[in-house]
Amino acid sequence: MRIKDLTTTVVDSNITSLRGWVDNVRDHGGLTFIDLRDFESTIQLVFDKESSIEVNVKSEYYIEISGIFKKRNSELINKKTLLGEFEIAVNEITVVNPSKSLPFQIEDGIETDETIRLKYRYLDLRRNEMKHNIVARSKTFKSIRTIMNKLDILEIDTPTLIKSTPEGAKDFLVPSRKSPGSFYALPQSPQMYKQLFMMSGFPNYYQIAKCYRDEDSRKDRQPEFTQLDLEFSNGNPELVKKNVEIIVKHIFDEAFDIKITTPFKTISYQESIKLYGTDKPDLRIASTISDSTEIFENTEIKFIKENLSNNGKVLSLHTSELLTRKELDRLDQLVKEMGSNGLGWFKCTDNELTGPLVKFLKEEEINSILSKGSGVTIFQSGDLLEISKYMDVLRRDIFKGEATEAASFLWVEDFPYFENEGGVLQPSHHPFTAPKDSELFKEAPDEAIALHYDLVLNGVELGSGSQRINTPEIQKLVLEKWGLSNEEIDTRFGWFIEALSYGTPQHAGFAIGIDRLVAEILKQPSIRDVIPFPKTQSGMDPLTEAPSSINESELSDYNLRYISDEKQ
Ligand code: AMO
Repeated sequence: MRIKDLTTTVVDSNITSLRGWVDNVRDHGGLTFIDLRDFESTIQLVFDKESSIEVNVKSEYYIEISGIFKKRNSELINKKTLLGEFEIAVNEITVVNPSKSLPFQIEDGIETDETIRLKYRYLDLRRNEMKHNIVARSKTFKSIRTIMNKLDILEIDTPTLIKSTPEGAKDFLVPSRKSPGSFYALPQSPQMYKQLFMMSGFPNYYQIAKCYRDEDSRKDRQPEFTQLDLEFSNGNPELVKKNVEIIVKHIFDEAFDIKITTPFKTISYQESIKLYGTDKPDLRIASTISDSTEIFENTEIKFIKENLSNNGKVLSLHTSELLTRKELDRLDQLVKEMGSNGLGWFKCTDNELTGPLVKFLKEEEINSILSKGSGVTIFQSGDLLEISKYMDVLRRDIFKGEATEAASFLWVEDFPYFENEGGVLQPSHHPFTAPKDSELFKEAPDEAIALHYDLVLNGVELGSGSQRINTPEIQKLVLEKWGLSNEEIDTRFGWFIEALSYGTPQHAGFAIGIDRLVAEILKQPSIRDVIPFPKTQSGMDPLTEAPSSINESELSDYNLRYISDEKQ
């Protein structure tokens, strides 16, 4: 029996074999109360003064009791708990298993260090907050399966000991005992396998897939995470986006009882950077960034003059709030930590400008800034992509109060095919994405646009997908433009290019980060809060202490030797 099965129909009857944990014990002048807790509920146990039962239990003892299920006297009703109208007058108690002293209290809102919580995650998961998150995750999986069955999409699994699938991170490698010196990679995503299904003629595919990426952990990134991975034969971006909207709408409704409106708004990457400074804008905030370069065209402010002569820009944000000096100093520090030279600002009160740079302004500049109205105009000047990053952070910080509760979805598309990462071209999605215009791609790959689309929820990148390349020629070309030699293309991707050569249909797909989806809906600060056993920021599991070293004889089974000491 579970506590939730105790209803008015069993009032005044003898309940037997009710099991649970001792949530707390209270002694009121010889009258002992215990809150008994199981997965869903708690119920108060009462031990009468006259009773001869010995109550020798502490928090988190697992006990079994029998007793009379009773309605409490009206003045003793606890309206805060579900079964606060009732209690059990215990006539028998057995300790099934005692508990050691706890490393932290099993209660909501604890401020225990996260590493300790993760070391004792099995206890942390006894807390209501965490149970709620994990149940929501489970409901998400359930609702995914319902809608996939409804849409007649096939659930198919893919291997996890594979050859590398590039998604922009480093691989986790697994040494092969039987092939000395060889390694499997754990999948960064099932990307190439799901495309193979399309080549084999499957109409569609989905999988709730574990993915592994050896990259720095952050609040929205884990080395091991879960995707809802999708692919559609004869698909195109419109078909994929339509299906993703149906799926997301269903998950919100069935698992969370939240109604959302589709279709979602779409904007281009260029527009997104221009208005919000980022390709994942939070549209719950209405304020947008302005290009104020023109205002400063003939400026005498030295650093702006210099930036403009180097093709730089001036971007600004205006808030009607009269930010205090302390606030402005905090924002200055915020952007400086990101690499900016500092925050530029002008304050406008009673049609008059103040601020450290006002004395250098020309009259027409003053008039243009005053025309923005009373409040504060902040700005950054320099390389457009660089200062856009600072403006994004400033926008989200200054206007955070504007963010409403409602979920705000956005499709972002028309990404540049390649991003320039420190002089190296990297596909902005992955190298299996089709270019929008293959001819342009051949001539000027760094100007080409990708058939890649992202789904953003409240400023979080929830998912990504693309139209795929379906000919061996274009696939080879993309890998070449990415900078791979013919030899590298052959050894790393020869098998895939070969597979593309036997009549491959057009296909397109998508992957949603399930951890991010659940964390965002539940408004959790990190995806670690919705993953049962996450890793710490440094990629450790404090519970099992993985990753851990292995001894020399085990290493030699894998034909490996640890050489760090020899190197020094
Ligand atoms: P992408 O690499 O953009 O695309 O990943 C898709 C989504 O997966 C989630 N995600 C992560 N979540 C937690 N921790 C991480 N380290 C992490 N990395 C990614 C994000 C992201 O939007 N194969 C392509 C999809 C496709 O083209 O079909 C892919 O994996 O929510």
